[in-house]
Amino acid sequence: MTTRRLAQLVDQTLEASVVGSFTTIGPSLRRRLDHWDPFASAKGKQIVLTGATSGLGLKAAEILVSLGANVHLVGRNKQKLAGVVTALQDSAVAHGGSAQGYVCDLSLLQETKRLLAELQKAVPVLDVLIHNAGALLGDFTKTTEGLEQTLAVQVLSPELLTRGLAPQLSAAKGRVITMTSGGLYSERFDLGSLEMTEANYKGTVAYARAKRAQTLLTMTWNDDFGDEGIRAHLVHPGWAKTPGVAESLPTFSKVMGPLLRSPEEGVDTLIWLATTNDVLLEPGQLWLDRRPRPLHKLRRTKLTSGQERVAKAALHEWCEIQIAHALSTGGHPSSKPQN
Ligand SMILES: NC(=O)c1ccc[n+]([C@@H]2O[C@H](COP(=O)([O-])OP(=O)(O)OC[C@H]3O[C@@H](n4cnc5c(N)ncnc54)[C@H](OP(=O)(O)O)[C@@H]3O)[C@@H](O)[C@H]2O)c1
Repeated sequence: MTTRRLAQLVDQTLEASVVGSFTTIGPSLRRRLDHWDPFASAKGKQIVLTGATSGLGLKAAEILVSLGANVHLVGRNKQKLAGVVTALQDSAVAHGGSAQGYVCDLSLLQETKRLLAELQKAVPVLDVLIHNAGALLGDFTKTTEGLEQTLAVQVLSPELLTRGLAPQLSAAKGRVITMTSGGLYSERFDLGSLEMTEANYKGTVAYARAKRAQTLLTMTWNDDFGDEGIRAHLVHPGWAKTPGVAESLPTFSKVMGPLLRSPEEGVDTLIWLATTNDVLLEPGQLWLDRRPRPLHKLRRTKLTSGQERVAKAALHEWCEIQIAHALSTGGHPSSKPQN
């Protein structure tokens, strides 16, 4: 059996087992069998990264800075963000890049709009926009702008930022990368049940529905901006040991403990997608361990191509309405600039 055939066979076996694929077993075997290249240099690249103050985002920021990138880190906690930026300065200087912080609570669209204006000014040519911020929220939370928080952070803010930064991304023929989750495999997209109410709220379901909605947003961004050279991708980190997982899934985190990926393993494919010089990567795919993976594992979650077309248009329209509504509410005191 050739090495390539063996790598393919092992990969398929891992993928079918789920646990083998999502835990640390996945990258340890695939790295060796697929002969993963070291990351390409990111020198000179301008990269916006949300959720940069913890877990996967923090690790991604460290690696991107060490590759020479100019990283624009978005965090909601001013002190925490300042600490991360300070900690990255030496590496940034040593590797010829930079680290700059932007305070923004992405659950508030007024704050996201202000962030957008700051980024449009600071980064006229944007190579990579990474939507990483997110959390599985156990309790139903409505923001002061009237939005369910999971959707505000993981669907509406990414939509507002991507569309607003399209000219800057287009100037670099840039990439948009969204951090998704295996949770999406359990949900079929249905706009009618996307926004959960306090009465029917279940954190894991709200999270999975938001992640499923991100797949449609990614397709629509490719439809709308592909001609401008922008490519949008989805990436799945596997199951990685992060503060987010420990907090939102404590039992899972304890039981899976030794098998969870390290944050480095969790962000490997994200960094690879952000920095690879391979411009032939087909957009709109879901990547895990440097290979594209199916968007669906269950027949019941699939839409026909006609249903998908209607769903994409409906989600886009819904996002526009929600964003316009949130922006017209007058905002919350914390949405005022904090710098
Ligand atoms: N770890 C995994 O196994 C796993 C698996 C599948 C998908 N993911 C996805 O990977 C991404 C990162 O997760 P993680 O595990 O690294 O979790 P984490 O350690 O909790 O990090 C999440 C990051 O998002 C930020 N964030 C959350 N809500 C925000 C808001 N309203 N405004 C601005 N920033 C906000 C957090 O800010 P603070 O630092 O202020 O809390 C933090 O920096 C998420 O999208 C998650 O869904 C993770």
